[in-house]
Amino acid sequence: MNDFDYLDEKSVYLDAACQSLRPRPVIETLDQYYLEYNSCGERVKYPWGEQTDAMVEAARQKTLKLLKLKPKDYFVSFTLNTTYGINLLLNEISSEFVQKVFTSDIEHNSPFLATMAMAQRLGVPRVVLKRNVDGSLPLDENFAQAVVVVNCAANFDGRQLVNLKNVVKKVHADGGIIIIDAAQAMAHYREMLEKTEADAICFSAHKMYAPSLGVMVVRRDLTPKLEQNFIGGGMVDDVFADHYLLSAEANKDHVHTIFEAGLQAWGEICAYAAALDWLSARTRADKKRLESCTQELDEFLRSNPKIQMVGEQANPTMSFYVEGLDSHLLGAALGKQGIMARTGYFCAHYYLDKVCKYPPLIRFSLSYATRESDIERVKEVMRKI
Ligand SMILES: Cc1ncc(COP(=O)(O)O)c(C=O)c1O
Repeated sequence: MNDFDYLDEKSVYLDAACQSLRPRPVIETLDQYYLEYNSCGERVKYPWGEQTDAMVEAARQKTLKLLKLKPKDYFVSFTLNTTYGINLLLNEISSEFVQKVFTSDIEHNSPFLATMAMAQRLGVPRVVLKRNVDGSLPLDENFAQAVVVVNCAANFDGRQLVNLKNVVKKVHADGGIIIIDAAQAMAHYREMLEKTEADAICFSAHKMYAPSLGVMVVRRDLTPKLEQNFIGGGMVDDVFADHYLLSAEANKDHVHTIFEAGLQAWGEICAYAAALDWLSARTRADKKRLESCTQELDEFLRSNPKIQMVGEQANPTMSFYVEGLDSHLLGAALGKQGIMARTGYFCAHYYLDKVCKYPPLIRFSLSYATRESDIERVKEVMRKI
């Protein structure tokens, strides 16, 4: 059965790096929550609430299982998106642990700006490391008393942090804190994150076939280094006139509440659990189809001498410009033919605009929803244009 059967033949959705299309089982789980057991999680005693609680707990457990991390070492909190998770962490890591902030040149504005804000707020230096062409991070720096925030896949050409495990090891050996932005990695290369012992991994469920939601996977031993400065309902076990008892401190099973102020997106969390099942069930054939669509479109684009690709390897997320043609105009022309692609700098302004000095680009990002016929359609329309 095709889980994207609601997509008509003429609609070619190539914007999965922003948010993927949602497969039917995910949409149905969200519907089911609203139609059958709409309730607040982790608070209510009536039966609908019990069902929500079971789904939410499953979502937390499935996340750790997918990443092969142990619940005794890690916990999962939900937020709004990757940006929110990274900002929350950087705002709460106590200044006594931060003498320097590191990020890299190929980051999305999300960590790029959040690290800038942190360094400015704490009055500490910020270093933008230059990633190698293969996506790896050079490790000659000393990361003592440093916070390092880097992505494990870029959002314009999918370039990966191929030395991820060594980066984490080195930052820890030096005595620093490492936060991984996994926004672009979870949908299609989550294997690279398995058993990654970073202090935190932040990602967006909406880029991995789930509803709009942020996910934070955090090491339990990071929490003593945090200062709680964003707080509200759902986080406390008791409140007095001028102090309170944090649920996270009262019960280690409630540690996830330290990042979950106020009512959460319970229905979205339930549907995220369904998306994790759906992702885990992708077959070799699904992966092969995505690979061959990627290969075919990449070869088509690279074979045109007027097309300049970003990056050197084929990847489901590909960016380029056509010499002498404005990418925004091209994007609009493609849009009129039903081809949905992004134009501009995709929130990676620093690298694409200031470092590489590219003109505005166009990005095709493929997914498991991409059909062979979509690629044929793109080729046909691009040839005409
Ligand atoms: C690598 C990367 N990091 C962070 C983000 C920010 O994600 P969100 O807008 O969901 O917070 C994105 C979004 O495209 C991204 O691609």
